[in-house]
Amino acid sequence: MEVDPGAGLHYLDSASTTFPKPPEVLQAMVDFATAAGVTPGRATYDLGLVAQSMVDRCRKAVCQLFHGPRPEQVAFGHNATDALNLVILGRLWRGGHVVTTRLEHNSVLRPIAHAVDDHGARATLVPFDGRGYVDPDAIRKAIEKDTRLVVVSHASNVLGTVQPVAEIGAVCRAAGVPLCLDAAQSAGVVPIDMQAMGVDIVAFTGHKGLLGPTGTGGLCIGAGVELALTRAGGTGVRSADRRHPEEYPLRLEYGTPNTIGLAGLARGLALIEQEGGVAAIHAREMALAEELWRALTETDGVTPYCAETLTDRTPVFAFNFDGLDPAEAGARLDVDFDVACRTGLHCAPLVHESLGTAPAGSLRLGVGPLTTRADVVAGAAAIRALAAEARRR
Ligand SMILES: Cc1ncc(COP(=O)(O)O)c(C=O)c1O
Repeated sequence: MEVDPGAGLHYLDSASTTFPKPPEVLQAMVDFATAAGVTPGRATYDLGLVAQSMVDRCRKAVCQLFHGPRPEQVAFGHNATDALNLVILGRLWRGGHVVTTRLEHNSVLRPIAHAVDDHGARATLVPFDGRGYVDPDAIRKAIEKDTRLVVVSHASNVLGTVQPVAEIGAVCRAAGVPLCLDAAQSAGVVPIDMQAMGVDIVAFTGHKGLLGPTGTGGLCIGAGVELALTRAGGTGVRSADRRHPEEYPLRLEYGTPNTIGLAGLARGLALIEQEGGVAAIHAREMALAEELWRALTETDGVTPYCAETLTDRTPVFAFNFDGLDPAEAGARLDVDFDVACRTGLHCAPLVHESLGTAPAGSLRLGVGPLTTRADVVAGAAAIRALAAEARRR
């Protein structure tokens, strides 16, 4: 799955989305749309069954990837944000307490804010330590009698730190509270085993580590986890019923699905297997990331955040150049060095508040499945050159 994005660009913004998409994924979408791009499930003609079997295949692959209980417990939606809204509002629709962390993305923080403001919920936000990790014991202490949900971002989209999920899962199991993992940054990047890790719900997005297109994502839900219905609509089955069906996956699926996107996601999931699986991809990405990490940690005038080691992390790094505004530095990396990175708060304002980097935020570099050695070499050289220039100012 090698692709040249062209124009000499070194794309190091893979934490935002995987780019370019593997050609196999794009081709799978064209092939599906051309041959069987009809609505699945509802049709009485053969092509509808072909479309349904593609969706079923994708469900099965997601279930296998996360070690979910059964494919029917996988519900597809638009992205991780959509999935997290269903979980957070589905657990807090009638109020109650939620435990989360200061590492979270706005796709967790904002639905929680709405649940607090509009549904009478209460929230406790657990801090992270100086290395970027949440203490499972702090989660244990934050759980109250009416805690309805613990939601934790598996891998921080700013710091790249991978949280001790198995320990957090054990805490949640002991307290009888469902644990939802925001796996936007970890699905397809680090292995996830819901059963071994004590995770009840995985919220995933299709367009990052899973190699699929934008507009895909969803939930893998453990057996016995109850989510209130917070949306309703057409399902193509039992159309005479007044209310939305209760059973999974229909319970969490509304309207016509993004079948063309799911055809791409199914191909992306197959590619992950073809490339040796998630652990092999992670090892390859971390080996590439070392080049960037060395530049960030060994260059005078560069401050990396929570990047002491390359273990227990994804290849995502936040940093600043001393004396340079991150937005200006990001523009310089793009214009002068053809290096694409992300700057600002990265939709995680509390991370930057805790680091002391708000309101300007930081730069962020991320290695992804299609990153090449040339990309990381160019990125490292650009960091050294820009830092040297900033030191001379
Ligand atoms: C940690 C984290 N959670 C959630 C999301 C939301 O993902 P999406 O934009 O695909 O809904 C992101 C996206 O960057 C993320 O990094």
